[in-house]
Amino acid sequence: MKAAELFEVSGLATVITGGASGIGLAYAEVMADNGARVTILDADAAALGEVVERFRRTGQDVRGEVVDVTDRAALERGFDAALRHFGRLDVVFANAGIGGGPGFLKLDGERNPERALENIPRELWDRIIAVDLTAVFATL
Ligand SMILES: NC(=O)c1ccc[n+]([C@@H]2O[C@H](COP(=O)([O-])OP(=O)(O)OC[C@H]3O[C@@H](n4cnc5c(N)ncnc54)[C@H](O)[C@@H]3O)[C@@H](O)[C@H]2O)c1
Repeated sequence: MKAAELFEVSGLATVITGGASGIGLAYAEVMADNGARVTILDADAAALGEVVERFRRTGQDVRGEVVDVTDRAALERGFDAALRHFGRLDVVFANAGIGGGPGFLKLDGERNPERALENIPRELWDRIIAVDLTAVFATL
């Protein structure tokens, strides 16, 4: 197989979660530049609107749906809309995610007491598990 065939994405219907910025946006740009049809699902309505408008001006086939990936019903609606629009789904990039903030060590190697296990807020833990774990499973 030739590399050109291996990386051929033209016409592939692609869904990217968290594609309104960062790595997901870069992926959307690469896919669209190479002829893929892209739906971006992202919770940040303002950023998503700007990104989709920018793609629209280039004539590329990129659309967006405001979706919080931790909301399963909204996630399903986003995928259903993409399927209706494209008539097929070929590629999914479960990219939406959040960082947990600083770790248990500071840059100087000293312990960061705020991030000792017993001090990590329960809400932070729950949110990270919901976005970075459960929602990835729900997306796939
Ligand atoms: N950049 C890094 O060094 C790095 C390292 C390890 C892992 N990651 C992971 O890679 C992915 C992309 O990272 P990035 O640096 O591009 O992040 P980013 O913050 O630039 O982009 C994340 C995107 O996901 C969206 N998002 C966040 N929560 C969401 C939710 N609940 N529903 C829908 N959309 C949501 C945000 O609105 C944003 O557009 C993330 O999952 C991140 O945790 C990044």
